[in-house]
Amino acid sequence: MDERTLVDTAKKMVAPGRGILAADESTGTIKKRFDSISVESTEENRRAYRDLLFTTPGAEEYISGAILFEETLYQNTSDGTPFAKLLADRDIVPGIKVDKGAKPLAGAEGETVTEGLDGLRERLAEYHEAGARFAKWRAVITIGEGLPTNYAIATNAHALARYAALCQEAGIVPIVEPEVLMDADNTIEVCEAVTRDVLNATFAELAKQRVLLEGMVLKPNMVISGKQCAVQADVETVANATLRTLKRCVPSAVPGIAFLSGGQSDELATKHLDAMNKQGSAPWSLTFSYGRALQAAALKAWGGNSANTEVAQKAFFHRAKLNGLAATGRYSEAMEEAA
Ligand code: 13P
Repeated sequence: MDERTLVDTAKKMVAPGRGILAADESTGTIKKRFDSISVESTEENRRAYRDLLFTTPGAEEYISGAILFEETLYQNTSDGTPFAKLLADRDIVPGIKVDKGAKPLAGAEGETVTEGLDGLRERLAEYHEAGARFAKWRAVITIGEGLPTNYAIATNAHALARYAALCQEAGIVPIVEPEVLMDADNTIEVCEAVTRDVLNATFAELAKQRVLLEGMVLKPNMVISGKQCAVQADVETVANATLRTLKRCVPSAVPGIAFLSGGQSDELATKHLDAMNKQGSAPWSLTFSYGRALQAAALKAWGGNSANTEVAQKAFFHRAKLNGLAATGRYSEAMEEAA
């Protein structure tokens, strides 16, 4: 394991004022996103859309890394440059989603375990060859009646650590993503308790499986009220609960935490990140690894029409910039109107 390279890459991914673009929607997920704008999900449309995002002028000021789906890693820009090369040339670290998705967990009704460990060592070698320098694996934890079970938490934590250890062996920085879903009717207190259990289990496994904490990035959910909960915690409450939980559970050797947006609106995801960074007391860098909250406006502006490329890129740049500012606590709501 080349520790130096891992540490340098991880630091770069969470450098102050920059964050990660999650553009690694699987074929099924990108179809859903394209359905919402009535665009057919062909390989060329997927390529054209990612091309638009990755070639956005100035994006590298606020974007440190981009997570790609496997198909995208082997695609090129319109002028034939491999996306991984384009990104690296722009000082944006290319990454790759390597899990095979969350599948029903045997003996645990309503819960999942993320698959994709078999053959992962060989795949990682190929992805590294193609230019990927970090990877992502997403575990999904569901809150519900009697859920999550300790069984599901432990099984997912174990798989996350196995993935992370294999990545580091291959010289690839693992993004460790244990996502507690935010779409149920639970209170923020329940989200806090579950997130704490999940993070504790995850870091216990990472330690057992000898993962170098300095050479990874954590991608957690924020501690937040469930979408269906009648009482929605405000921005300060979310920022405080999230920071408190992370400080209790995440060793300071981890260089950075890059949040997922998980269905929060664009603006709310930015406000939460900004509120945490305005407190200025965290031992790790706190940034974003947003999918929907970075892309929603750009996707809509594009609408599948290449004539809209420039407006779509402007929309993406605007979101990237405001999140970049939020990553150092310099965002203000007035900046939204400047769009
Ligand atoms: P969202 O920010 O849309 O939740 O996506 C981030 C991601 O990569 C989830 O795995």
